[in-house]
Amino acid sequence: MLRTEDLRKRFPDGTEALCGVSLVLRAGEMACVLGSSGSGKSTLMRCVAGLIEPTHGAVWINGRPMTSAGERERRRLRGHMGFIFQQFNLVGRLSVMTNVLIGRLGRVSPAWAILHQFGRSDRACAYRALESVGLAEKARQRADTLSGGQQQRVAIARVLAQEPFLVLADEPVSSLDPRLADSVLGHLLRINREDGVTTLLNLHTVELARRYADRIIGLGQGQVVFDGPVHALDHDALELIYGPAGETGSADEDEEGARAGTAREVVAV
Ligand SMILES: Nc1ncnc2c1ncn2[C@@H]1O[C@H](COP(=O)(O)OP(=O)(O)OP(=O)(O)O)[C@@H](O)[C@H]1O
Ligand SMILES: [Mg+2]
Repeated sequence: MLRTEDLRKRFPDGTEALCGVSLVLRAGEMACVLGSSGSGKSTLMRCVAGLIEPTHGAVWINGRPMTSAGERERRRLRGHMGFIFQQFNLVGRLSVMTNVLIGRLGRVSPAWAILHQFGRSDRACAYRALESVGLAEKARQRADTLSGGQQQRVAIARVLAQEPFLVLADEPVSSLDPRLADSVLGHLLRINREDGVTTLLNLHTVELARRYADRIIGLGQGQVVFDGPVHALDHDALELIYGPAGETGSADEDEEGARAGTAREVVAV
């Protein structure tokens, strides 16, 4: 479904954000990338999405090369990929419904898209998507009048309306309170389980990764330092990903809790 091979990214200022990341995500997987701030999580996601060019290496989506594709092929591939970011990326002055319909832009003809003329089946699909995140009654409201959690659920509805085969979510819940974070991740998990949508998540908290992911990919300084099932995310794995707890000075706590706590503290700054 998704394959990266020896992905490297060096920014013009010399920062080596990715130093050879090779990954394979199988169809239907729910994988979470964990890593300290600056470890390269967002850069990896942006390279996979084709939003930035890697300096070296390649990305394949469903067997098609993203990195060497022309702009048209990239757009086509992106049409099948749903993006959810920390900032909800809604168009505030447009209605909730129109924002969700934007998810269908890749599927309607370009002329229709320009005119925002969506067909009845597109509207029905967008309405169902809003219903499934509990926001159908807000369909006509301006997006910027919704709360943060509601906006993120609209962003998820937009992805649902798009009917993607791959969802990339970069810190989708880091600006939400714990209850809303659960609700948003619950929706992503449902899409994954019910529709088999392959999902790659970047999360800040170990606890959420444990609850929602099947597989953990640990990044450290632009390299994969851990890759395994969620139950293998033990004390040693956390140390590999976030470094020894002693480095951040939480030595006296219960060990497992200290690691998870350390991980949260490290990434919260
Ligand atoms: N456009 C850019 N120009 C220069 N350096 C960049 C750029 N974008 C990211 N970096 C650097 O690349 C490294 C990886 O950044 P990235 O945003 O991928 O980290 P991250 O793991 O997503 O961190 P966080 O958890 O804080 O979101 C960092 O050192 C960052 O400063
Ligand atoms: Mg990031």
